[in-house]
Amino acid sequence: MLFKVGVLVLLCGFAASFQYEGYKVYNIQPRTSLEADFLHEISNQPGFDGLHVSRLLDRPAQIMVAPEQQGDFESLLLQRGMTYEITVPDVAQKLEEDGITSQSFRTRGARIGFTAFYRHSAINDYLDELASSYSKYVSVETVGQSYEGRTMKVIRITNGDGNPNKKVIFVDAGIHAREWIAPAGALYIINQLVENRAANADLLKNFDWVVLPVVNPDGYEYTHTSSRMWRKTRSKGKSCYGTDGNRNFDYYWGYTGASSSECSDTYMGTKAFSEVETQVVRSILQSLKGKGVFYLTLHSYGNYILYPWGWTSNLPDTYKDLDEVASAGASAIKSATGGKFTYGSSTRVLYAAAGGSDDYAFAMAGFPISITMELQGSGFDPKPAQIQGYVQEAWVGIKAMVTKVDAKYA
Ligand code: ARG
Ligand code: ZN
Repeated sequence: MLFKVGVLVLLCGFAASFQYEGYKVYNIQPRTSLEADFLHEISNQPGFDGLHVSRLLDRPAQIMVAPEQQGDFESLLLQRGMTYEITVPDVAQKLEEDGITSQSFRTRGARIGFTAFYRHSAINDYLDELASSYSKYVSVETVGQSYEGRTMKVIRITNGDGNPNKKVIFVDAGIHAREWIAPAGALYIINQLVENRAANADLLKNFDWVVLPVVNPDGYEYTHTSSRMWRKTRSKGKSCYGTDGNRNFDYYWGYTGASSSECSDTYMGTKAFSEVETQVVRSILQSLKGKGVFYLTLHSYGNYILYPWGWTSNLPDTYKDLDEVASAGASAIKSATGGKFTYGSSTRVLYAAAGGSDDYAFAMAGFPISITMELQGSGFDPKPAQIQGYVQEAWVGIKAMVTKVDAKYA
């Protein structure tokens, strides 16, 4: 028995790249919105994975395609007169070369760093350590268990003034397993608000912060141990695993931009909130109803600051408020680092995709400001040396957005 476990662990190590043998990444520059829509639509189908797709036509789409679909895909493109470039001829080989840049261990009690990606248990340890070292400001609460039984924890950060009536900012990250920079970004927020408290006092004066750094711990761990490009949860279906958490929320669930096919990377699930992880986010959002003013969900990649709607190209009545906040974030980043973040309604800027947590928080939990931020990264695997810069850049934008939210809603 023990022997078998050992063998399994070994096999898992190899599986990381083995799963993508023969997969290719295509770079395709759409010239019209018709072409962009075609790329978006095809990327919701099994065997296709839209790593980056946008309606704005200002950047090429990046689509990963399974070996069985490549022939058809290439002829479809040719038929339409669309040209493509293959940027990664074999994803498995690329993953092999890059190596997995995770850090499994973090010495308990050591300072958190931003030169490695932490495993889920290390992230939970960090939260617990902050709660015990900074008990006046910080508390940690278990909010649920993932499908595979991992403990999901949120950290609540205050300035310790004991005011129970403050408005609340809720941040989550890592609903998509492979977007490792997103949980790193959440950790940086936590680190700054707690361990660099004095410098950030303004951000805590009128707000308490609640942060769930890893929404999808099963998927996150799976990308560390077995399959680097995994996106979905790990719930077991009839023939495939996983649901796209960001297509699983109950607001226009399944209406557009999601797949009803289990094996698709944008599978919407058997029903809205079929996943325990999205149920956890729902309860947090609902528990904050009336107090929650800013919901921020971190993703990667592409440098976007997105607001509702994700299900329609119409804009919400209050879109000017959303736009002001998003624009403040983008321009703060621009002046700090020169980094260019595109902002706008997520349907107009990226593509229509219903069932997202941002639309749900905005429409169903009363958050007046709801933002999806796609951090920087030209792929899902920023080099460890890039982590710090990317999360700092995001933090500049987030601080500016919070300052706007403060002026409007505190
Ligand atoms: N890249 C993100 C996703 O596909 C964008 C989500 C934007 N929000 C939305 N409701 N569509 O999940
Ligand atoms: Zn994402």
